[in-house]
Amino acid sequence: MKPRQIVPNVYLIGAVDWDRRLFDALIPLPRGTSYNAYLVQGGEKTALIDTVDPSKWTELAAQLDELPAPDYVVVHHVEQDHSGSLPMLLERCPGITVVCSEKARTMLVDHLHVDGARFQVVADGDSLSLGDKTLTFLSTPWVHWPETISTYLVEDKVLFSCDFFGSHLATSDLFADEGDVLDGAKRYYAEIMMPFAPQVMKNVEKVTQYQIAFIAPSHGPVYDDPRLIVDAYRDWAGGPLRNVVCLPYVTMHDSTRLMVDHLTAALVERGVAVERFDLVTVDLGELASSLVHAATVVVGTPTILGGPHPLASHAAFVANALRPRTKHATVVGSYGWGGKTVDSIVGALGKLKVEFLPPVLAKGMPRDADYAALDALAETIAEKHADLPPRHGA
Ligand SMILES: Cc1cc2nc3c(=O)[nH]c(=O)nc-3n(C[C@H](O)[C@H](O)[C@H](O)COP(=O)(O)O)c2cc1C
Ligand SMILES: [Fe+2]
Ligand SMILES: [Fe+2]
Repeated sequence: MKPRQIVPNVYLIGAVDWDRRLFDALIPLPRGTSYNAYLVQGGEKTALIDTVDPSKWTELAAQLDELPAPDYVVVHHVEQDHSGSLPMLLERCPGITVVCSEKARTMLVDHLHVDGARFQVVADGDSLSLGDKTLTFLSTPWVHWPETISTYLVEDKVLFSCDFFGSHLATSDLFADEGDVLDGAKRYYAEIMMPFAPQVMKNVEKVTQYQIAFIAPSHGPVYDDPRLIVDAYRDWAGGPLRNVVCLPYVTMHDSTRLMVDHLTAALVERGVAVERFDLVTVDLGELASSLVHAATVVVGTPTILGGPHPLASHAAFVANALRPRTKHATVVGSYGWGGKTVDSIVGALGKLKVEFLPPVLAKGMPRDADYAALDALAETIAEKHADLPPRHGA
């Protein structure tokens, strides 16, 4: 795509990766992604903000052909989807200076073997004048890695936020449409930002001390109404959990499914919303999104080879790594003779600050007593959720 102007002399460049379907060898990309770079042309100097995934270098190079040669490249974040083209850029522009945090400097040397002589290290609050445009660098650690910074373009009130506020969304839209972007932005938050929710909140408060007219992230469209994504982030990272049970499950011969079906109906009957995920076909991003707001997680799994089904173990492992703010958890499922299924799931969720509710395990196909235990579990969950806001709305 050709460079697109956001405000005079500030351009969105980079690449839309329409066809990519997996990120970090883990994260599904149902709508592709983009690697946004930006060019800020000041009266005296020009800065390139980030580069692109190395697979898209030729697209960025073609755009740079049409623009003034950059004097600086600001590297917000060392992950290769934004910095992977830096070695090619440095070869193409021998005079360019790499502007980044001290942590990023050492990481660029480690990850990309960049020549250490080409850096200008900046600290939190430092500014760089391009003439009539001024870049102020803000330390925003853990959105996504510890070295990450954001850049505020003072005169035009543009916040270049890198992964922070991003979305894996391939689109021809320059500016975000509320109906189109929020699902993807929430998935992205869940997959990338949720493990660092307290730092995310600090960074949201930090950057919003500045007047922001545009948020220009490194994935997905630009926000010309920054409140949309800022308010969403405040809700996802720090707002109330919802009256929702997230229910990932797997079954081999349908006994666990009978239990999950019964529990779903019993919860709905008691006014508790259920978000169910068959782990055979699950899109991990949808499961992660559900974990952003669900107050309770119930893992449904049969016992297999002495423990949970591997798909349930995997889901629990991922949930544990993503550190949702979930308050309650338990396990339901069927077994044949015995095993450590509950202990194993409880152990796998060890990082979560959850209260474990009594599990429900049925020997073989569930009987009346098992269904009664599921009703009791639903009752307990409904009581625990009594004061929570509904799944949708305030
Ligand atoms: C491959 C395999 C391994 C199993 N290993 C165990 C086990 O270690 N302990 C146990 O109690 N049951 C074990 N079972 C029995 C299942 O837990 C039991 O059949 C259960 O009802 C299956 O639930 P489902 O219908 O939801 O798949 C195993 C079943 C299979 C197919
Ligand atoms: Fe990243
Ligand atoms: Fe990224």
